[in-house]
Amino acid sequence: MTPQQGYDAMADLYAEAVPTAYQYPVERHAVEAFAERVLTSGSMGVVVDVGCGTGHVAADLTSRGLDVIGIDPSVSMLGYARSAYPGVAFAEGDASLTALPDGTDIAAIIARFSLIHISPEQVMETLRIWAARTHPDTPVLVAAQASDAPGVPLPFDHAVAPAWRWHPDELSRVLDTNGFAEEWRIVYRDQSYRFPMVQLLTHRR
Ligand SMILES: C[S@@+](CC[C@H](N)C(=O)[O-])C[C@H]1O[C@@H](n2cnc3c(N)ncnc32)[C@H](O)[C@@H]1O
Repeated sequence: MTPQQGYDAMADLYAEAVPTAYQYPVERHAVEAFAERVLTSGSMGVVVDVGCGTGHVAADLTSRGLDVIGIDPSVSMLGYARSAYPGVAFAEGDASLTALPDGTDIAAIIARFSLIHISPEQVMETLRIWAARTHPDTPVLVAAQASDAPGVPLPFDHAVAPAWRWHPDELSRVLDTNGFAEEWRIVYRDQSYRFPMVQLLTHRR
C-alpha cells in the first residue's frame, strides 16, 4: 500500500486520533521559531507545508502572518484540511513539489513527519529538487521519528504506511550533502511514545 492509499484509507481515524497541530509542547516552540526565522529572513514567496495532512500546522503558520500552501498526496487528508481551514491554500501533490508551478517563489519549506514516508534514496532526490527550487538562505524545517542508532535510517512499523526513522546526525548529513546547512535541532522524547523525535532547522546554502 502506498502512503497515499494508506492515508486515504485511514484519514478519518487519523483526524480523530490527531485533532491538534502539536502532540508535545516543544513542537509548537519549534514551529514558532521556524515562523520567526522565516519572517525575519525577508524571504519572499510561499511557505510550503510538505505533507500537510489535515492542515493544522499550515493554518497555524497562516495565523502567524505567513503565506502558506499545504501540499499532500492524500485527497482524504486534504479534505479535512480544506474543510477545517477554508482560508488556507492546499494542493494535491507530493514532496517533489510538482504541484507548484515552475518559478513559484518559495520562502520556506516545512516537512513534519512526511519525509519519513519516502525511502532514504528518494529523500536524497527530493532534497536535490528542493535545493534547485529554493534561494540561498531559504529555511527548511524537517521533523521525523528518530533513531538512536547512528547510520542508515531504520524502517519501522508505522500504523499507516511504510516509514523510516532517522538518526538526527544522518538526517542532518543528508540535508547538508544536498545543500542545506543545519542551524539547530531539537531531539525530544516522551514516555508515551516509543521513539525519540527530531525537529531540524536548516537553510539552503
Ligand atoms: C504523519 S502525517 C503528518 C501530517 C502533518 N505534516 C503534521 O505534522 O501534522 C504524514 C503526511 O505525509 C503525507 N505524505 C506521505 N507521503 C508523502 C510524500 N511522498 N510527499 C508528501 N507528503 C507525503 C501523508 O499523506 C500524510 O498526510
